Amino acid sequence: MSTLTMDFQAIRKIVLEQSGIVLDERKDYLIESRMLQLAREEGHKNLESLLDALRNDTSRRLQWKVVEAMTTNETSFFRDLHPFETLATHILPELAEVRKNSRRLRIWCAACSSGQEPYSIAMTIKEKVPVLNGWKISILASDISTEMIEKSRAGRYSQLEVNRGLPAAMLVKYFKKEGSTWQVCDELKSMISYRQVNLNGAWPVLDQFDLIFLRNVLIYFSVDDKKKILEKMRRVMRPDAFIFLGGTETAFSVDDNLELCQYGRTVCYKRK
Ligand SMILES: C[S@@+](CC[C@H](N)C(=O)[O-])C[C@H]1O[C@@H](n2cnc3c(N)ncnc32)[C@H](O)[C@@H]1O
Repeated sequence: MSTLTMDFQAIRKIVLEQSGIVLDERKDYLIESRMLQLAREEGHKNLESLLDALRNDTSRRLQWKVVEAMTTNETSFFRDLHPFETLATHILPELAEVRKNSRRLRIWCAACSSGQEPYSIAMTIKEKVPVLNGWKISILASDISTEMIEKSRAGRYSQLEVNRGLPAAMLVKYFKKEGSTWQVCDELKSMISYRQVNLNGAWPVLDQFDLIFLRNVLIYFSVDDKKKILEKMRRVMRPDAFIFLGGTETAFSVDDNLELCQYGRTVCYKRK
């Protein structure tokens, strides 16, 4: 076994222990390219020098950098579109009806990456569900990556990023052009708070939520960790709350205490 292969094993172990992300041997090409990039960013002349520093990383600063580097942050505005249509046509109107006395909604976007998802939820509320005007609505946007949290908080996107999924009418209404980037408006920002939360770590004390987006993140975890996370999710869901997973993810045979709700192509879940 080469030294590099052994070190990749060490990297797999660090990433698994810190984040729950499973990187099998088929992902060695990914480990190599991301570690090369991290080596450059950290001022190392080559991969071996970074791996040496990692072995002596008593403060764990570098280990955390490795975890951040190994996350996949692929996202876009209104990703998959139909879940947001279902949110507008079924889920939010139903929640508006059951919460009409308190006029309060709490939403958690639990692996928000660079923020396109929570901003898409906020725009759906503003644009498509007028009955919620004047309600107190809070969206918690969290991710394991502090870099992604900072990007979400900044709400600044390139032309390429806004071209991916954001309708022109919403771009013009909710974003301001600043040089070559687009800055999200304060109206949307004020609906969202940001926080670093490791789904596979100790969670902070959280509210009880009406709606949770946990999309395209469970795929990276082992079945045991998926089970644990869904069980913890149920504990922060109000009895009539909804949870959305990604298009390729399912709670079927992972958590029997979640009940499937189907609206056309959209699948989401409620507590049984
Ligand atoms: C593929 S992105 C999905 C983003 C968004 N939910 C979507 O569907 O477009 C996965 C995100 O999960 C985050 N992530 C990975 N492991 C995590 C963990 N243990 N706790 C919280 N977030 C995690 C990554 O940092 C990344 O931003």
